[in-house]
Amino acid sequence: MIKNICCIGAGYVGGPTMAVIAKNCPGIKIDVVDIDINRIKAWNSSDLKCLPVFEPGLEEIIKECRGKNLNFSTDIKKGIENADVIFISVNTPTKLNGLGAGYASDLKWIESCARQIAEFLKGHTIVVEKSTLPVKTAETIKNILDSSQFIGSNTKNKSEKKTFTIISNPEFLAEGSAINDLQNPDRVLIGGEDEFSISKISCIYENWVDPQKIIITNLWSSELSKLVANAFLAQRISSINSISALCESTGAKIQEVSRAIGADKRIGNKFLNSGPGFGGSCFKKDILNLVYLSRFYGLHEVADYWEQVVKINLWQQKRIYSLVIKNLFGTVSNKKLAIFGFSFKANTNDTRESPTIEISRDLLQEGATLTFYDPKVKEVQIVNELKDIECEGNWFYCKTSFEAAEGADAVLILTEWEEFKNIKWSNLYNIMRKPAWIFDSRNYIDSNSLKNIGFNVWTVGNP
Ligand code: NAD
Ligand code: UDX
Repeated sequence: MIKNICCIGAGYVGGPTMAVIAKNCPGIKIDVVDIDINRIKAWNSSDLKCLPVFEPGLEEIIKECRGKNLNFSTDIKKGIENADVIFISVNTPTKLNGLGAGYASDLKWIESCARQIAEFLKGHTIVVEKSTLPVKTAETIKNILDSSQFIGSNTKNKSEKKTFTIISNPEFLAEGSAINDLQNPDRVLIGGEDEFSISKISCIYENWVDPQKIIITNLWSSELSKLVANAFLAQRISSINSISALCESTGAKIQEVSRAIGADKRIGNKFLNSGPGFGGSCFKKDILNLVYLSRFYGLHEVADYWEQVVKINLWQQKRIYSLVIKNLFGTVSNKKLAIFGFSFKANTNDTRESPTIEISRDLLQEGATLTFYDPKVKEVQIVNELKDIECEGNWFYCKTSFEAAEGADAVLILTEWEEFKNIKWSNLYNIMRKPAWIFDSRNYIDSNSLKNIGFNVWTVGNP
């Protein structure tokens, strides 16, 4: 019976995933630990609006479980010592320097995590890779744990020997729907060699997941499947975005094309919404990792094929930025543009790799003044995302959509926040400079009603 779980990494995956396990397994005590004191403070905040991660449904579970069987702490040693199972949920971003820079995953956080586990491990522990990792990372973790199996323990006393098994259990949640995805997953993937440990991990999930949805594979298939799942999803977005440009040139309409092709069950109707390109911390990083792995194994055609998905994504963002300029009489210098949405998708406060960053950067460099409004993103996050551009004084953080649009020449809808649908667009039109433009990169607002108000409207994938 698993009694104690430790999750290392209290981020977008560690926090929500452990919250859902805690809710469904009241008999298991869970410690979520992190080196980031501020993050842990925020998880422990009495004001649930201050949790570090915004996800619909998360606050309710934290309210129910925190302080009972779910604890957030910086005491990594204690968490590891007590654990029967350790989930590694630390970040694995793309390497910025050195060998493989720009492609390979930076595994320094994984390594430091493995070293912490090696140091504090007690008895037999199942170490679970929850982070997304390059294939064969389990071998690295095993090497680190193997080499320090006896450190800190009495080697003469066999009962104090530290033993472990490594299991891969990648996470497939999408931000914005994380709680629902965790509560009702399409599948749970468990990869490993040790049947006993696999069954222990499976038992945790069986508390709320249909056993038929639990897929067991070997370690390497599990690690690779996670990268491939993200690559396939991202590929669909680049595919539909490439066609959006063709629609704009030919008179076809992207939503009609999406509907027509999506009606074919073999294609399916999900993930066919054209937009400003995919953002988020996962797709780009995981494809680049796949590209790196393919090159490493000498499979250059495979690498080139997948890299094109990332290239099209950037191209779509550049395309949107340049057509904004084109439509605003070829210049945005001294013009005010209101950016609606900074998170990479709706229902999350996460801004990592948000298309808004790239598009804003280009507009700021063209001399535009930008105002940002996002229902969940804080000013400090925008400061952080734009810190490498010389644009101080050229952008403003706004608390409402109307404040952002006051006197603006254009509104750019870059994130599909539900509340944008409820804006009184006729009132917004009245406070903008004319001609007033809407650039709807998500086909989110009814363009005919906007045109009737008097707006000039551009929507992605429409002539
Ligand atoms: P994150 O940056 O939000 O959280 C990672 C946390 O790990 C941070 O709070 C960091 O302080 C902590 N950390 C790093 N090293 C540590 C150490 N040695 N000891 C203790 N804490 C440490 O990252 P995330 O978005 O939660 O992603 C985590 C992993 O899950 C990544 O591999 C990612 O690719 C994968 N993943 C993410 C998502 C997603 O939607 N965000 C979905 C599926 C999988
Ligand atoms: C993704 C995967 O979906 C998830 O399974 C994995 O665990 C982590 O990576 P996430 O990045 O959180 O999740 O969100 P997702 O819903 O996949 O959206 C990613 C990006 O694609 C967003 O910028 C979104 O706006 C964009 N997108 C998505 C589109 O542009 N069109 C679509 O049809 C779907």
